[in-house]
Amino acid sequence: MTETAPLLDVDRVRELFDLRGAYMAHNGGGFSPDPYPLWAALREQAPVHEGTLHALTEGAEDWTFQGLPERDRPHFTAFTYAACNDVYKDSELFASSANAVDPTASAGVESSMLSMGGAQHRRYRALVQPRFTPKAAEWWIRKSIQETVDALVAHIRPLKRAELNVDFCAAIPVLTITGVFGIPVEQALDVRAAMANPMDVITIVAPLVAARREEPGDDLISVLVQAEVADEDGVVHRLTDPEIYSFCILLLAAGSGTTWKQMGITLTALLQRPEVLAAVREDRSLLRPAIEEALRWQPTDPMFSRFVTRDVDFHGVHVPKGAVMHIALGAANRDPARWERPDEFDIHRPVKPILSFGGGPHICLGMHVARAEMVTGIGALLDNLPNLRLDPDAEPPRYVGFYERGATAIPVLFG
Ligand code: HEM
Repeated sequence: MTETAPLLDVDRVRELFDLRGAYMAHNGGGFSPDPYPLWAALREQAPVHEGTLHALTEGAEDWTFQGLPERDRPHFTAFTYAACNDVYKDSELFASSANAVDPTASAGVESSMLSMGGAQHRRYRALVQPRFTPKAAEWWIRKSIQETVDALVAHIRPLKRAELNVDFCAAIPVLTITGVFGIPVEQALDVRAAMANPMDVITIVAPLVAARREEPGDDLISVLVQAEVADEDGVVHRLTDPEIYSFCILLLAAGSGTTWKQMGITLTALLQRPEVLAAVREDRSLLRPAIEEALRWQPTDPMFSRFVTRDVDFHGVHVPKGAVMHIALGAANRDPARWERPDEFDIHRPVKPILSFGGGPHICLGMHVARAEMVTGIGALLDNLPNLRLDPDAEPPRYVGFYERGATAIPVLFG
């Protein structure tokens, strides 16, 4: 990668990363009303409602997220912080998949650790956890993030204007995750395009897996080919190809699909409040709180879900075994029982745990990577682009999307 080289094909980035485009249509990418007032009213009515989040939200359509809803199951949605947190804490009652997972059977997210529970989940997650600790974020910055950010900034700095969502935010996570996998820059967007069909991801990573089995290097695929896991009977084995592919599919999807939207959300919140942006520019220790507050106030993925494993009376509602419980973490993050003036974006709030990275055993594996990407990326913009501001003559950015939320174009001027 040279100083200005890693620039991705902008038209293709726009196509693959436009929330309102065909790629995101199934999960409500085009949804543009602000759902938070409605969610607040629902949260005030009751902690848990029967129905999916989209069925309960006026103006929403019959969208899907992570394969849900399943037509033959009753669905419920938790809206308060206490109810959502209780779902996350009890991973036996609220399981990540309806059926036991056989990771060696086939490759895909449904065979990955995201779908596992209990001891099996702990065994598989432990294989990659050391590369995702707060300390390991430095490895990610050194290996991929800093170089990517520097090259992107070097490209846009002389232009005096940019569209940050595509020119900047979208590129960083996809180049970061493919970089630590050892996938060449030229194939980075192919990985993103392949997310719609996991077999295409396997086509890209299979030759790399074979090569690292021969000669491991300092990358994530090498971690996976060298990992050993114990099965149910305690027999230890090296990960099979399908097991490695499932890890790859999960990590490439989670790594490239989330942080760009959250970075755009954070930048939009700051650019629309020039006095807050100036304060962060002046005192860089405020950047982390600004990122955390944007996560609380506008999480990019406002809902995840769990399968209910036995009949339960839960926060005032009887929920039968086999039901699906939606965790409306976006609504939980604005629960007035926990935060004062919860609808305000206030970077000076006292720090409290939020649910934007989930909770319990499946809490986001990549949260320290995501934070490192956002701190490095936004920090570099503040360091290199003086007088960064929204372009007053362009359409202002707005938040759109339902199950995946983010900003529309973020047109800026600087210099
Ligand atoms: C701002 C960016 C991100 C957000 C908001 C986010 C959010 C989340 C959430 C809410 C979960 C829990 C899902 C559930 O409860 O079922 C999760 C899990 C996960 N995330 Fe992230 N994520 C982000 C970035 C990343 C990145 C950069 C990576 C990888 C490099 C990553 C990898 C994962 C993985 C592997 C899991 C599954 C963990 C498990 O099942 O134990 N995430 N993420």
